[in-house]
Amino acid sequence: MNSPSVRILNHASEAVPLLLAEVRTLAARPGRPLLGFATGGTFTAFFRALADELAHGRIDAGRLCATHLDEYLGFGPERFGGMVHELCEGCPPLRDWLLRGAFVPLPHDGAPASIAAHAARLRELGGVQLQFLGIGRNGHLAFNEPGTPFGSGFHVTDLAETTRNDARARFSPQEPPTRAVTSGLATIVAAKRLVLCAFGGKKATAVRAMLRGPIDPACPASLLRQHPDAHVLLDRAAAADLASA
Ligand code: F6R
Repeated sequence: MNSPSVRILNHASEAVPLLLAEVRTLAARPGRPLLGFATGGTFTAFFRALADELAHGRIDAGRLCATHLDEYLGFGPERFGGMVHELCEGCPPLRDWLLRGAFVPLPHDGAPASIAAHAARLRELGGVQLQFLGIGRNGHLAFNEPGTPFGSGFHVTDLAETTRNDARARFSPQEPPTRAVTSGLATIVAAKRLVLCAFGGKKATAVRAMLRGPIDPACPASLLRQHPDAHVLLDRAAAADLASA
């Protein structure tokens, strides 16, 4: 099968049962496989649905561990605007995962020793088996902005102006943060399976660059084309520029 596989949905909401099915398949595997979450508006409906599945025991929380892609520098789990805070608000059962160590957050201090300990912890857990991804309008994956080397591991990075502008409403009336700690591109593609979602016309240019442009750090998401088990879910608006390629 070609990788990435690309599936175009009539509506973004159709992705929710597909993403839940991915989680169920993972939870059925032996051990406690590690699931990597992405944050952002793309996954809001999924997290609501996941919370419901977990609350009703339709997905057994004890069968999984979780981590996530990126965090604003200095944003601890309780701090509004942070990624872990967003995940726990969007999917409240994750608060319990966090307390019992089943949800491994990125070290928000960004210190090299903390980052090394985080990477070691993920290795101990067997590495990320399934990674959910969104894509930025500029083609970023996590906070790997255009130009980030494909070989990058966890690191602290400056945020691009487009990324900060997209985050402005979230932090208003404060200014959005300027720095974040992020999984690198090599870290992301080390996951066994990748599922990237992109919805809405604002993503169409980035989606085209990812799937049809050169495989180049200018579009970090183009690296997905070198992964053997990558899957892309688009709505019609996000896929709009593909036909003309
Ligand atoms: C966040 C992340 C980012 C977002 C991307 C899309 O953890 O990894 O790459 O997925 O910026 O954000 P939304 O979904 O808000 O459009």
